[in-house]
Amino acid sequence: MNWKSALFLNLYFVRVLVLTGAGVSAESGIPTFRGKDGYWRNLDPTKLAAPEAFARDPQLVWDWYLERRQRIRHAQPNAAHEAIARLAHHADEFLLVTQNVDDLHARAGIPAEKMVQIHGDIFVTRCSSCDFWYLGRGGLPEPPGGGRLRSIAPTFDDHVDLPRCPDCNALMRPGVVWFGEQLPWNEVQRVENFLDRGACDVVIVAGTTATFGYIVDWALRASRNGADLIEVNPEETPLSRFATRLLREPAAIALPRIVHELIT
Ligand code: OAD
Repeated sequence: MNWKSALFLNLYFVRVLVLTGAGVSAESGIPTFRGKDGYWRNLDPTKLAAPEAFARDPQLVWDWYLERRQRIRHAQPNAAHEAIARLAHHADEFLLVTQNVDDLHARAGIPAEKMVQIHGDIFVTRCSSCDFWYLGRGGLPEPPGGGRLRSIAPTFDDHVDLPRCPDCNALMRPGVVWFGEQLPWNEVQRVENFLDRGACDVVIVAGTTATFGYIVDWALRASRNGADLIEVNPEETPLSRFATRLLREPAAIALPRIVHELIT
């Protein structure tokens, strides 16, 4: 008996891992990193999302993140985010690992305990030197309660003051993982714990180029016992050759259909 029939007869415990990337938010109007819309002021996003870029020109990097925050605040979850949230509610054990720093999965209804934002959260602002951080959905790097943040004087009229840490006076930065930086240890542990507790029945990888080894590794480890490994991506990726099912379609089209198949 396969897991779908067993599930139907309530004999089975279903574990699902979903890995997502920028392509899942593309249809909400958020440009992907490596897509043709990704460039900002003629700059390559993969170069802006880097500690060297922040060291060289923190104002430029903040401007880019402020625009991205604004776009995300005005965006709505699409049918792909909603389908994944439906799956999260139906599976016995579920984990979403997203590389997206937007909040569209959360706004579609995935609870925090079922989601790992492995590249951080764009609405977090944290100190570039110490552990101080805060979360806020405002457009500017706004001060936390009590106005503890100090800022340096603006150099141009149209520039936002760069916020400084109230504890150590270093520059504050967006709370995201940049190229070459370590992944957040606690979040990696959450993924590892989920994988250690057992193999999955279904693994879905959607909207990511899967350029990072850990994404490929997690997808393969989760599907090690013959799980369905479903890839949703209009283009080929390093994971495509391992997939048991390839859907070369936009995520907002393919995911509602797959989730409907899985839960009915
Ligand atoms: P990318 O921008 O590299 O890739 C987007 C992927 O989505 C590509 O494989 C596209 O083919 C696919 N895609 C585009 N539109 C789609 C759609 N409508 N439906 C489904 N798929 C679609 O984004 P990621 O793979 O997420 O990291 O990039 C991973 C990481 O690289 C980001 O988190 C960021 C970036 O640099 C850091 O900043 C560390």
